[in-house]
Amino acid sequence: MKLFKGKTFLVFLLTAIGLIAAFIALFLYVASVSMADRTFSWDSKKTATPPGEGSGVPYVTMSVPEEKRWLDFTNHTAAPVGAEYDFTMINEGTGMLEGWTLDMTFNENLLIDSFWNGTYEVNGNTIHFTPDKNADFMKHLEPATFGAVIYSQKDLELVGYTIKGRLPIKVLDLPVFYILIVLGLVWIVAFFSYIVSFARVSRLQKQRERDLLIISQSIMTFTNFIDAKDPYTKGHSVRVAQYSMEIAKRMGFSEDKVQDLYYEALLHDAGKIGIPDAILTKPGKLTNEEYAIIKTHTTIGSEILSNFTTIPDIKDGAHYHHERYDGKGYPSGLKGEEIPLNARIICVADSYDAMSSHRSYRKSYDNEKILEELRDNAMTQFDPEIVPIMISMIEDGFTEKIRAEFGAEADYFGAPVV
Ligand SMILES: [Fe+2]
Repeated sequence: MKLFKGKTFLVFLLTAIGLIAAFIALFLYVASVSMADRTFSWDSKKTATPPGEGSGVPYVTMSVPEEKRWLDFTNHTAAPVGAEYDFTMINEGTGMLEGWTLDMTFNENLLIDSFWNGTYEVNGNTIHFTPDKNADFMKHLEPATFGAVIYSQKDLELVGYTIKGRLPIKVLDLPVFYILIVLGLVWIVAFFSYIVSFARVSRLQKQRERDLLIISQSIMTFTNFIDAKDPYTKGHSVRVAQYSMEIAKRMGFSEDKVQDLYYEALLHDAGKIGIPDAILTKPGKLTNEEYAIIKTHTTIGSEILSNFTTIPDIKDGAHYHHERYDGKGYPSGLKGEEIPLNARIICVADSYDAMSSHRSYRKSYDNEKILEELRDNAMTQFDPEIVPIMISMIEDGFTEKIRAEFGAEADYFGAPVV
């Protein structure tokens, strides 16, 4: 289990990349909007009423108080109408207006006598106005006033204008920025929770692995006690467990069920603890009485394991592994599928190991003889569906591998990994 692997981490990585991309996109948007030149125009030929209060854009008004109008035929014979014109520009744009200039168009050609708050260039009936330095930015709704004394032939009327400037926006003014900040904070909190819970789960997993190892080694130790009772059966329980586990895997058991069967098979001969050594290791044929005692290892084993409830049905392997498919086995004489499946598997694995190992009373069988025995006893001693699986394990060399690893001569101890 790694912190920087897995679907959850991928989701965190992708959302982090998404959030960073969204922040970059937002800042690029702000920069592009702030640097863009904007134009706000009014032309009386197109729209009779000029933009005014509530228009949402920068606009210009012009006023001439009656007392500031006069006629001067002495010095301005060609353009005798003089007046002091006041202009007001209101910035109703989205924010600050920066670096602005203004072109105004009038109904008449004009002459400028004097001006204030900026620089004027006159060209026929137009004025190009550039505000004084430091006055070329206007806050939202802030007015800028400027004016001029102008002479013309008739009273001047403003018939159009074009305001040019930039309307920079601040990232702090955009709601989306705060949404992204909140999402970022949520991401940080979620990621730290993930790290904390990951650390906790890792600790629990390590603890669980250790617990499983303790269980596994305890069972192995007990298994070694069982096998130590009879030098001829050294490694028998481990091999039977390995064969049973492989049969279960080939039958498509779930991982948990394979693990349970492994332990069940390891302890299938637990009852041998209760059989006298003299009978267990007796060379040659057993008397009927001795054989009857040997048979009790099934029920003794079942009793020994009856308190071992954490592994489901673990005592069934001990109890029923000598039942026969035809119902002629012991201790209960169960038949066919009345015998628990795990016990039927252990029965085949147990018989294979018995046939392929030396015994106090005979030598081991060769593969040919074992295959013959398995085939001959399918339906009578063995479950006919398990026999072909055992045969395939012999034929593909699996059993050979297990015998080499856990055979009577092999030096092993511990818990083989399932
Ligand atoms: Fe047995």
